[in-house]
Amino acid sequence: MTGYRYEYDFLVIGSGVAGLWFALHVADHGSVAIVTKKEQAESNTNYAQGGIAAVLTPSDTYGSHIDDTLAAGAGLSDPEITRIVVTEGPGQVKALMALGASFTREGDTLHLGREGGHAVPRIVHARDATGYEVERALLAAIQTHPGITVFEYRYAVDLITEHHLGQVVTKLRPDVNCFGAYVYDERTDTVQTYLARVTMLATGGAGAVYLHTTNPAIATGDGVAMAYRAKARISNMEFVQFHPTALYWESGAAAGGKAFLVSEAVRGHGAHLLNQSGKRFMPTYDGRAELAPRDIVARAIDDQLKQRGDDYVLLDISHKPRKEIEEHFPTITAACRAYGLDMSREPVPVVPSAHYQCGGVMTDQHARTSIGGLLASGEVACTGLHGANRLASNSLLEALVFSRRAAGTALRLAAERPINQAVPDWDDTGAQRPQEAVLVTHNRDELQRVMWDYVGIVRSTFRLDRAFRRTRLLYEEVEEFYQRTRISSGLCELRNMIAVAYLIIRSAQRRRESRGLHYTVDYPGPVDAECRPSYV
Ligand code: FAD
Ligand code: SIN
Repeated sequence: MTGYRYEYDFLVIGSGVAGLWFALHVADHGSVAIVTKKEQAESNTNYAQGGIAAVLTPSDTYGSHIDDTLAAGAGLSDPEITRIVVTEGPGQVKALMALGASFTREGDTLHLGREGGHAVPRIVHARDATGYEVERALLAAIQTHPGITVFEYRYAVDLITEHHLGQVVTKLRPDVNCFGAYVYDERTDTVQTYLARVTMLATGGAGAVYLHTTNPAIATGDGVAMAYRAKARISNMEFVQFHPTALYWESGAAAGGKAFLVSEAVRGHGAHLLNQSGKRFMPTYDGRAELAPRDIVARAIDDQLKQRGDDYVLLDISHKPRKEIEEHFPTITAACRAYGLDMSREPVPVVPSAHYQCGGVMTDQHARTSIGGLLASGEVACTGLHGANRLASNSLLEALVFSRRAAGTALRLAAERPINQAVPDWDDTGAQRPQEAVLVTHNRDELQRVMWDYVGIVRSTFRLDRAFRRTRLLYEEVEEFYQRTRISSGLCELRNMIAVAYLIIRSAQRRRESRGLHYTVDYPGPVDAECRPSYV
């Protein structure tokens, strides 16, 4: 079941904002392959709602955006990385607009939205479907570039390193190199070898590790798992962001699977959170009320649900004029309507849902990972910007800034890194056709429940230990199955999700304090001596 060998100057894994922005910046200088595991637009990027945070008016300042980012990061954001993103970000947003992305305007100027944790309105957006517009504009540009080939339904299985040349690769070895990736072609059921001078990891996040998530099903943490297996440094995995307001409905948050997001911009526009008795509760938790950073709002909702035994709280914007709501939030209004809810007349039921991975593959200012020839950008990377909690709408911004920086790095690296012809093709001699596919669906379901029940918004040592034991059993069972079975995307995803779950749990167990998104009842406050990034 081995297939073709391909050679490119640049291999990009992932077709969200991080991968596409990088590809466009290197394509004039070499050949580019983008492999993506589903249809090319399917990505977290495509579903982003609120927008891109950037300082674009004279009344706003870099200092203010930096302060807001550092405050959300709860002591763990890197000040220099934050400065880089905030100061280079506006230029990237303008470049995106020059490429064709169209954002909501108010007369001659951009309309800027407001979201939690931001001192002023600074969110550039395309009504409530910003990601769709960004992805559309990027894919349109990619399609007209002759130097870029997009391979859909190609699932990257593993990064190729010295390990595949028969050498021993351990975490202690300082000079591991990446030569490309083994990629499973779903349509031909073959594993293909993609060799490259430089490989860009842009595989996005891991929301699907949890039962309830705002992320699409592609978000299974493949990039972090592949990089971990390749012995890259991984950082801050305990910081999983739960978005406070996913629509609670049978087919969404209540039943598992992708929950529809109700953007933070709705709260930025004046919506209130009510408990089921109709009482507004946020002011009793934080002076910023509904516009407190996400970790605070999500924990407050969790507290209300636990205290009252309720399944959801209510988000109410019905005091605003109907026309205004429909104009600003057409996607959200339509989604609510599909569930028989009219947001302009009544409060809608919402619950927190897993949303964003703040940790990931550790990168430096130049988007370099700890592995030679391997760069990373976007949600898969841990640049140091988000620290213990990401500020709303800073993610698309970070991806734009670091993918552009990565392009500069890649051009320098490509000149000195030959294609490694010694890489062997994928060998699955002796592997059997899968007999027990139910193992994959059952174990995926079990893992998502374990993570939701024991590694969620409020953690404890007892729950984390329990999750660790359960995950270990799943790991052993799936690893044994993987070693003797021909691969499929489903099996590889499950294997990666277990690896990511392990990294989240391990990092959470080691942090003996509560900080930002990591809250444990056994260490309920921050501890100065623990205030440092975590590594695995
Ligand atoms: P993605 O856009 O997720 O792209 C990852 C790509 O990698 C996909 O194409 C995927 O198919 C591919 N891939 C993954 N694994 C493999 C593999 N093994 N082989 C091949 N291909 C693979 N952020 C903001 O800043 N502002 C917002 O308003 C905002 N709203 C959001 C709303 C929602 C509902 C969600 C889910 C997220 C939101 N975010 C927002 C977060 C933001 O959208 C993401 O963090 C960002 O888009 C990530 O971009 P990315 O390119 O890193 O990853
Ligand atoms: C939202 O629109 O609420 C999501 C914004 C984000 O995740 O940054």
